[in-house]
Amino acid sequence: MFLVVAVDQGWGIGNKGDLLVRIRGDLKNFAALTTGKTVILGAKTLATFPGGRVLKNRRNIVLSRNPSYAPEGAVMARSLEEVLALTRDMLSSEVCVIGGASIYEQLLPYCDCAFVTKIAGNFDKDAYFPNLDADPAWECVSESEVMVSTDEDLPAGVEYTFCEYRRR
Ligand SMILES: NC(=O)c1ccc[n+]([C@@H]2O[C@H](COP(=O)([O-])OP(=O)(O)OC[C@H]3O[C@@H](n4cnc5c(N)ncnc54)[C@H](OP(=O)(O)O)[C@@H]3O)[C@@H](O)[C@H]2O)c1
Repeated sequence: MFLVVAVDQGWGIGNKGDLLVRIRGDLKNFAALTTGKTVILGAKTLATFPGGRVLKNRRNIVLSRNPSYAPEGAVMARSLEEVLALTRDMLSSEVCVIGGASIYEQLLPYCDCAFVTKIAGNFDKDAYFPNLDADPAWECVSESEVMVSTDEDLPAGVEYTFCEYRRR
């Protein structure tokens, strides 16, 4: 499996249950990387999506230990073992971990590739992703040119790049 995440300079990924920032170009990149695939996410991340609804055009595996929680359109997994059983026979390139912090932490050992959007700046944050630059098991194999968020984004003028990491 692989993962997609957006981090700030301190490898922060969220604050008070929401994203640090919404950048249209990053959301488009996220859609391109995940559409048609199986995505794995935690219940708290699902709650941040519009209307708390699963992502369309993707098979959504949602982790929750709450046995009565079953959002419409989701394939529920009540444990890490259930996620691994549900994805065991699938190609690594077809299964994408999309957060949040607790799900990244638990599934990073099973990922062989990470698409990391690096957002310039230090935002207020309380949720983090492991620093892959400090992890000798991972290497950055490509980095895009620097892009800048536009006036349609919040906030505008933020620089970001797309980085691809591979497990060595
Ligand atoms: N920057 C990014 O790319 C990005 C992407 C995604 C999310 N985020 C941010 O990450 C933050 C949310 O992260 P988070 O760690 O608080 O929440 P999370 O990982 O999205 O969800 C945590 C929930 O998942 C369920 N869960 C976790 N491990 C489980 C297991 N082994 N078995 C069964 N269920 C399990 C539990 O749900 P129950 O409580 O229902 O049992 C748990 O409360 C938010 O700020 C969000 O905006 C950022």
